Amino acid sequence: MSGCRVCGGPVHEFADFGRQPLSDAFVDPGGTGDEFLFRLAVGRCARCRMVQLTEPVPRERMFRYDYPYRSSQSARMRRHFDRTARTLLAGLPARDPFVVEIGCNDGGLMPAVDAAGVRSLGVDPSVLAAKAAADRGLRVRTEFFDAGTAAAVRAAEGPADLIYSANTISHIDDLASVFAGVDRLLAPAGRFVFEDPYLGDVLSQSAFDQVIDEHFYLFAVGPVRDAARRFGFDLVDVEPLPVHGGEMRFTVARPGRYRPTPAVGAALAREDATGLTGAPALRGLAAGAERVRAELPALLRRLRAGGRVVAGYGATAKSATVTNYCGIGPELVAFVCDSTPGKQGLLTPGSRIPVRPPEAFADPYPDYAVLFAWNHAEEIMAKERGFRAAGGRWIRYVPDVRVV
Ligand code: SAH
Ligand code: TYD
Ligand code: ZN
Repeated sequence: MSGCRVCGGPVHEFADFGRQPLSDAFVDPGGTGDEFLFRLAVGRCARCRMVQLTEPVPRERMFRYDYPYRSSQSARMRRHFDRTARTLLAGLPARDPFVVEIGCNDGGLMPAVDAAGVRSLGVDPSVLAAKAAADRGLRVRTEFFDAGTAAAVRAAEGPADLIYSANTISHIDDLASVFAGVDRLLAPAGRFVFEDPYLGDVLSQSAFDQVIDEHFYLFAVGPVRDAARRFGFDLVDVEPLPVHGGEMRFTVARPGRYRPTPAVGAALAREDATGLTGAPALRGLAAGAERVRAELPALLRRLRAGGRVVAGYGATAKSATVTNYCGIGPELVAFVCDSTPGKQGLLTPGSRIPVRPPEAFADPYPDYAVLFAWNHAEEIMAKERGFRAAGGRWIRYVPDVRVV
């Protein structure tokens, strides 16, 4: 039993995915082949109900110099950030507002903030990702956001009116350091807005591949409200988002500043009514994972035995959990196409499937393709409509294994 990273309470494990590699540590085919492994298991704190991994991976191992993920690879996500910026900027003070983005990667919200003429600063420790942002003319500090970084930013630039973060706060096991940093940096009437995969969507779709080293927390509204309070803040708004398979946007502010919107109470009531963070609901995740492990490799073996060529689409971090948990390697999925330059030419972590550029997909088309980037289904299927037209079939495994 491990200790809760939020409150120190006992964390009871409810799903175990065994020994896993880092989900974004792609392997050099010409290298030694050594991979860092850790035990990937997820549990819930009996005291504050926060769902979290039982074994954190040191942050420097994950978010290192050549961390390959690039936000800008999805056109839909670029539009999402543009829309988000329009909404959030409308609530800023008129005089020289200041926006800080935690985990901006190669751009995130900042291009839209800059385009609106608003002063922005990104904070991201992954050197090449931050460099990609800087190369676009954005201002970035190549550092982990924590109390020290926040104090330095405040001293140099003054308080932030908006601190925004997408798909990053759930990656930081030391949540106390995040809130201590927000406390140093946020203006008295400022807002801290973060959006991450929502536990409700993960469970309802049995999306067990959302469990990866980088997703230390799977947030629900109740535990986030309690964590914010513990660290001296109020949760004042929540908003479900359709991106990345279902997320929640949380808005946090200094205590007593803003009256919580009705959406907060409604979400809390819904979570209580459905027993979202209760043991039966959580156990469903392991059951769903076992179902996929029984069905997906069996389907792929049948197709391979029948002489079909099967590829993958999207060398996602999530696919590391699926392929390694289900025992899927290059004998079942010959290669996986991905648009990220820093992943191409390498092998997927653990499962060692070669990653090729999207141009390889049609050269010639495989018979079947496992849609590992299921959260980008619409965008990818539209882009690759020639695949179905040529008789190809997609294989999905969220919410269950099916050929479409
Ligand atoms: N916000 C982007 C990127 C998400 S990937 C998007 O939504 O697409 C997560 C990013 O968070 C990575 O670029 C990683 O380097 C960064 N990150 C991880 N820990 C961090 C920390 N403590 N402070 C700031 N950035 C962090
Ligand atoms: P994503 O699901 O966003 O995140 P994670 O790696 O955390 O699971 O990753 C999507 C991957 O799919 C990313 O490597 C880029 C790739 N991709 C394409 O190859 N083509 C596309 O059209 C899109 C949208 C993504
Ligand atoms: Zn706890």
